[in-house]
Amino acid sequence: MPAPERVPSRSLTATELVTFLAEGRLTVRGRIRGASNAVLYCTVAHEGEEVTCVYKPVAGERPLWDFPDGTLAQREVAAYEISEATGWGLIPPTVLRDGPYGEGMCQLWIETAAEDNGPDGPDADGRPPLLALVEDEEPGEGWKAVAFAETEEGGRALLVHADDPRLRRLAVLDAVINNGDRKGGHLLPASDGRLYGIDHGVTFNADDKLRTLLWGWAGEPLTAEAVEVVDRLGAALAPGTALVTRLAELITAAEIAALRGRVEALRVSGKHPEPSGEWPSIPWPPV
Ligand SMILES: Nc1ncnc2c1ncn2[C@@H]1O[C@H](COP(=O)(O)OP(=O)(O)O)[C@@H](O)[C@H]1O
Ligand SMILES: [Mg+2]
Repeated sequence: MPAPERVPSRSLTATELVTFLAEGRLTVRGRIRGASNAVLYCTVAHEGEEVTCVYKPVAGERPLWDFPDGTLAQREVAAYEISEATGWGLIPPTVLRDGPYGEGMCQLWIETAAEDNGPDGPDADGRPPLLALVEDEEPGEGWKAVAFAETEEGGRALLVHADDPRLRRLAVLDAVINNGDRKGGHLLPASDGRLYGIDHGVTFNADDKLRTLLWGWAGEPLTAEAVEVVDRLGAALAPGTALVTRLAELITAAEIAALRGRVEALRVSGKHPEPSGEWPSIPWPPV
């Protein structure tokens, strides 16, 4: 049998990619070092073609006391389903499937444009970084303030993120899915100019767990497109819809009810959520 031909994922539609990921032959090629759970770099071959993906077996998940129900893999797939329901395509195609280490999540591998999107991030394509630390009281033109942080030298710096419409969409998605871990390393600027979010294992908790760097729009009105999206999500989450049936396989009934509640709260307020405490809740480390 000839070796499968590696195809660029952008030549395939999201539906085709889901078929690839769910039905293709999964081969582990390596392990991502430094990840907190087992994250395996793989190829998945289907009808003579292959794409690259990550496979996170449930067996490699570190248990978390505040997420006792279901698996992180199921939450990652639920997050993908919600991202698809927004129409924004912010999360790479993600499926639940069996693999060499048992059931797990399988997600399309995203080739990133920049090696480093952290505070000093020189972007290979000349795009500005998404995050920065500035030694100023104000974020400056094109940036949004997150919080003051202490620098290694004991000084004070302002953590800022780009005033970027792709990040703003992601901030809305995170509010909906109650993302507990939106840090810099979970933002993947793809080489085609799109921005993806990854690592959605700690999402959908019934309690408020929103921990994110994307607080820059807190309290500001949602954009017109976001208002439309939360309206659409509200309808898609009505009892008995295909989306709710799918989610019921992945998260608990209480978590689905809380998800509806968050969407409703966004619809009623028409604003980006504000941190519940005095300080914005940000993941640590932020990058
Ligand atoms: N879909 C993806 N495309 C490209 N790189 C990815 C993808 N998913 C994970 N990675 C890489 O693997 C690392 C660890 O994955 P992550 O989902 O954050 O796992 P963990 O649960 O261990 O934090 C990420 O920081 C990223 O570098
Ligand atoms: Mg991670």
